[in-house]
Amino acid sequence: MRPKVLMTLALPDPARAVISGVADVVVLGFCPSEEELSVLLGDGVSVLCSQLRDTVSERVLERASAEFKGVCNYAAGFDNIDVEAATRRGLWVTNTPDVVTGPTAELTVAMMLAVARRVVEGDSEVRAGRFTGWAPDYLLGTSLAGKRLGIIGCGRIGLAVARIALTLGMEVVAAESQRRGDAPIERVPLDALLRTSDVVSVHVPLTPETKGMIGPGAIARMKPTAILVNAARGGVVDDAALAHALDDGSIGGAALDVYECEPVVHEALLPMRNVVLLPHLGTATREARAAMADVCARNAVALVRGQAPPDPVNRVGLAGGCGRRVGGQVVSS
Ligand code: GLV
Repeated sequence: MRPKVLMTLALPDPARAVISGVADVVVLGFCPSEEELSVLLGDGVSVLCSQLRDTVSERVLERASAEFKGVCNYAAGFDNIDVEAATRRGLWVTNTPDVVTGPTAELTVAMMLAVARRVVEGDSEVRAGRFTGWAPDYLLGTSLAGKRLGIIGCGRIGLAVARIALTLGMEVVAAESQRRGDAPIERVPLDALLRTSDVVSVHVPLTPETKGMIGPGAIARMKPTAILVNAARGGVVDDAALAHALDDGSIGGAALDVYECEPVVHEALLPMRNVVLLPHLGTATREARAAMADVCARNAVALVRGQAPPDPVNRVGLAGGCGRRVGGQVVSS
């Protein structure tokens, strides 16, 4: 019998054709509940190609068939997957790094510009017939050139944003972190970054440590004119605290591409003019989605073949205590 690869939502071509070379591909066409997913994985699936909306919890993984080898997430972020539980069971988890860097950085800069230069408000003015002619004080925004951008999470995407911001004439600083990159950007303590930046852009993954890190305390330290941008993950920013701060003028503006309870947006944000709200578009270019599909397919094919995948986020079956699958049982290596 041929191995079976389950895709929750269809990936762009030619991912399906590539995987079909080594396995039967079953496309669900919707994101299942945890219960539905666990039943599906128990039915002879070798590899799951998941979306960031699929919750791949321990409860889901514990019912997977003996032939199940792992999860290929069609995203760079993998907070929807219990990686620790997967590793304990000897299951690989892969993501789509690198190919999302440029597109997500582009969108982040577009969001910064949209708020600073009131692009969305301007568009609404024209459509509503309120544009009656140029005037010296009409819809004035803020120039980004000469302003300070503070990057929280200077990994691949944060660094790509920094590079574009430098070409706009911004001064860029990054928050000190334990994971030191080699980016040629001044590192400052988070507190100093929050207090001195004109734009604060968040690029950390969602983890128990980063959940709510931009909450009332962090927001209160920001300049009253500051703009907060989040194209990383909802949950890193406390949406209620942000709405409160935007409302009482403790910060100047914000742009969000992701939300704490996505796709639900905190209702207090909806009528606000000083916040730009996008529907999780970070990687939404044809080029990026095709490249992500390629990467996802390449990882799925490797797993089906029993090989180590090219883009793992965990280590399986290596010395050091990770689990290893033997006939459906997990043993320690
Ligand atoms: C998108 O949000 C991604 O993680 O790739």
